[in-house]
Amino acid sequence: MVPEPWRIQRVRRETEDTFTVELEPANGQQGLPFAAGQFNMLYVFGLGEVPISISGDPGAPERILHTTRAVGAVTQAMSRLRRGDVVGLRGPFGSTWPVNEFEGSDLVLVAGGIGLAPLRPALYRILGRRGEYGRVALLYGARTPSDVLYFKELKEWRGQFDLEVHVTVDRGEGGWRGNVGVVTQLISRASFDAASTVAMVCGPEIMMRFSVAELANRGVSTTNMFISMERNMKCAVGFCGHCQFGPTFICKDGPVFRYDRVEPFLRLREV
Ligand SMILES: Cc1cc2nc3c(=O)[nH]c(=O)nc-3n(C[C@H](O)[C@H](O)[C@H](O)COP(=O)(O)OP(=O)(O)OC[C@H]3O[C@@H](n4cnc5c(N)ncnc54)[C@H](O)[C@@H]3O)c2cc1C
Ligand code: FES
Repeated sequence: MVPEPWRIQRVRRETEDTFTVELEPANGQQGLPFAAGQFNMLYVFGLGEVPISISGDPGAPERILHTTRAVGAVTQAMSRLRRGDVVGLRGPFGSTWPVNEFEGSDLVLVAGGIGLAPLRPALYRILGRRGEYGRVALLYGARTPSDVLYFKELKEWRGQFDLEVHVTVDRGEGGWRGNVGVVTQLISRASFDAASTVAMVCGPEIMMRFSVAELANRGVSTTNMFISMERNMKCAVGFCGHCQFGPTFICKDGPVFRYDRVEPFLRLREV
């Protein structure tokens, strides 16, 4: 429960309101082994703690990356931190994307907005062992071209012959010549064998629901769909109840859930 001090090595501005910090331990600790999909509690001293997914490569646990959108008191204060500043870190917590369980399957990763950050470690893991999977598609939607995260990396991934990447924006401003429309429209374009496909979906809840419906239309089973949930958190270890969702705690049973296990509660309001 006690946060460890971690020093900011680098801050990278991704978009106007989103930034990535690279952290290294300030107390001599050797990195932080984690799995794709997990999150840390980051403490801005004197202000508060927030859950933020790890967005870096699980194969390089000595570099802990977090990509954060500045939305409120803590995340805005975090966006003002610079190289050399120290934050508190507890973690890693939570469940993981099932990248080790479905070798041989086709994979479809569907991300909306900041939802690409929690999926990026899964993609690193998949690309690092590309031969173990069938076809792999990444479908990503952002609000506008200037909200597209990891622009350079997306271009590199698109250049790979063994990875299908489609990007779309809600509003095509500033000379954008790519796709315009919601991310769910990309699902019909991706090539995969629905019977042996595993889907991982991360983004706003409404986007995840529509994506799941579209994937189901294409024949993917809900038992092969995984989503990552967000709720307010305090303890992150299943004690306080802040993140309760139906019979589960998102901090310890999630944030990654098999869709059919949470689907009944997603339909209820105020759960
Ligand atoms: C498991 C988990 C992983 C997460 N991973 C990430 C991540 O990788 N990157 C990231 O940027 N965020 C992530 N979040 C969300 C992040 O924790 C919140 O944005 C953060 O707690 C907001 O804290 P704050 O003090 O800055 O804002 P608050 O003062 O708590 O909120 C300020 C305003 O922003 C709104 N708000 C709060 N959270 C969000 C949100 N998620 N999206 C839009 N508006 C919001 C509130 O309703 C309020 O109006 C994750 C959350 C969970 C539970
Ligand atoms: S945050 Fe306390 S139980 Fe999940």
